[in-house]
Amino acid sequence: MTILVSGGAGFIGGNFVLDWIELQEETVINLDRLTYAGNLDTLKGLKGNNRHIFAHGDIGDREFVRELLAMHRPRAVINFAAESHVDRSIHGPGDFIQTNVVGTFNLLEAVRGYWDGLPDDEKQAFRFLHVSTDEVYGTLSKDDAPFNELNRYEPNSPYSASKAASDHLVRAWHHTYGLPVLTTNCSNNYGPYHFPEKLIPLVILNALSGKTLPIYGDGQQIRDWLYVRDHCSAIRRVLEAGTLGETYNVGGWNEKPNLDVVHAICAILDELRPKTGGGKYSDQITFVKDRPGHDRRYAIDAGKIERELGWKPQETFETGIRKTVEWYLANQDWVGNVTSGAYREWVGKQYEVQS
Ligand code: NAD
Ligand code: TYD
Repeated sequence: MTILVSGGAGFIGGNFVLDWIELQEETVINLDRLTYAGNLDTLKGLKGNNRHIFAHGDIGDREFVRELLAMHRPRAVINFAAESHVDRSIHGPGDFIQTNVVGTFNLLEAVRGYWDGLPDDEKQAFRFLHVSTDEVYGTLSKDDAPFNELNRYEPNSPYSASKAASDHLVRAWHHTYGLPVLTTNCSNNYGPYHFPEKLIPLVILNALSGKTLPIYGDGQQIRDWLYVRDHCSAIRRVLEAGTLGETYNVGGWNEKPNLDVVHAICAILDELRPKTGGGKYSDQITFVKDRPGHDRRYAIDAGKIERELGWKPQETFETGIRKTVEWYLANQDWVGNVTSGAYREWVGKQYEVQS
């Protein structure tokens, strides 16, 4: 048996593929366009492993996806492929509409054609799992209850609006065409192989290289952090036992203000890699101009997936963040490879005028 993963050279998709090869017996077809966020280095441990087949292509290329499906006949498609960074979506929303909306539409159409042609038993067993975000629900005030699956969609950034649109397409392809879909809406992930444009890896790397640790606004925005391998186990569980057409919120029960996250990273680095010239890493914290339209708080009620499918996260924030810092300290080669030219250009554009 075979599954097809899109976006499997990115942060979460890469972790998912590595875990899948380690824990399951099926082959993975990994369809990825290798944008700036896709890194084959993440998958280099799979070199020579015939259960991992990499296909360089775009989810929006319907003909290419059709051929891939016809050739490998997967029993499931898991869609991670997306443009995923809010700040980039503010600078240039076009790519987000193209991949997250138009790309998902084309992927759904290619998958529908393939699924329509399957024999009855394979058709029944087939699954399309769409990986989405809690950001589609918009922002919460301090005292609001966490997002559950019945919250209204109120996306505020070009990124979250494009993901919301993709969720609606997936839902419609189920209701209209009967495509057997599942959707997960997850909170902020962190862990190994995270591209250093997002808060946690950016802070670890900037701290180690003596740069400023940029905090947007007052640093009191809250995110609900989930260790990436817990997200991967939730996706495997939903794929295995989720009810067709349903959505599942996935979260870590770990709400933290950004400033606390940054202080936690600094404290671990002070312990594991004390600064050579003395002083604390937190001395590098710098408050910079806030993100436009910055959502104040995200929080996930992950009760449904726990009640119905028995899934709970294994890591606390304290255990997960320590593992993450240790991973970055031990994997400077990976970091060196991803922080080449294109990365530097982005950092220049985003931060130079602010700090
Ligand atoms: P990422 O940006 O690290 O990786 C995205 C991957 O998709 C890259 O490998 C990229 O090359 C590939 N890709 C982009 N456009 C493509 C296209 N048109 N065709 C094929 N491949 C393409 O993203 P991530 O953080 O791993 O997120 C994966 C998914 O999970 C996304 O759908 C994102 O919305 C969702 N999500 C992310 C988080 C998070 O905290 N990172 C939280 C919840 C949900
Ligand atoms: P990020 O990792 O970009 O994820 P998201 O915007 O999808 O939640 O940002 C996490 C939080 O950290 C968010 O509130 C923005 C904030 N942030 C900073 O304060 N400084 C930074 O340099 C970055 C990248 C993010």
